[in-house]
Amino acid sequence: MGQRKPIVAGNWKMNGSPELIKEIAAVSAQVTSEQREVLIFPPAVLLSEAISAGLECGTQTVSEFDAGAYTGEIQASLVKSLGANYTLVGHSERRSIYGESNEDIANKFAQAQKNGLTPILCIGETQEQRTEGKTEEVVKQQLVSVIEKLGIASLVNSVIAYEPVWAIGTGLTATPEQAQETHKYIRDLLRSYDEQVADALRILYGGSVNESNSELLFAQADIDGGLIGGASLKPQSFKAICESAKG
Ligand code: PGA
Repeated sequence: MGQRKPIVAGNWKMNGSPELIKEIAAVSAQVTSEQREVLIFPPAVLLSEAISAGLECGTQTVSEFDAGAYTGEIQASLVKSLGANYTLVGHSERRSIYGESNEDIANKFAQAQKNGLTPILCIGETQEQRTEGKTEEVVKQQLVSVIEKLGIASLVNSVIAYEPVWAIGTGLTATPEQAQETHKYIRDLLRSYDEQVADALRILYGGSVNESNSELLFAQADIDGGLIGGASLKPQSFKAICESAKG
């Protein structure tokens, strides 16, 4: 991992509670160190509570618009003013359930950065795309749509999360070798634009990460920590996963 400080990020999705915030805040205080950053993405309605408990937080998505008549949306400037510093953009559930396109996601990425939030751009292929040998083509298109709109320099203040869709919530994890292969592909692709940006960028792995597989995954040369769904709701599992990420 070299000079890249790993991140372990918990994506709670539409789960969690004030009680869980207390438990995870206690864990996070124990494992946040020089070695790693620990981030939590609670449901937006729990954001203030999570920040007050001392957690470093972000939202799970953010609106692409500044403000106005967008019922139900999450305003990036308000997220920042609450004290959050991150947001996920383009999680596969947002892409598949809510129909977010690469263009929408690039707009959300831009809106996050404009308001001082660091976007964690989620990319990854479906099982069908992998079977058809299209993994690289898919992740390339997901990345290039942001680079073409906002420039390679926009990736300086961002994080990438590679999450194969077939591994999310299924218990099927990519092997460390499979994950490393795609992470290396992503970094090499970015190197073709700008070596320094590519070498400094943190690329997280996500998809059924747990306390039994995290150490080997995080030990891969181009994997800089993880985005954790189900296991981030279990304080002891999340703690063990955090401890396996070492800078
Ligand atoms: P999972 O979810 O760890 O439950 O597979 C990961 C994610 O969706 O970010």
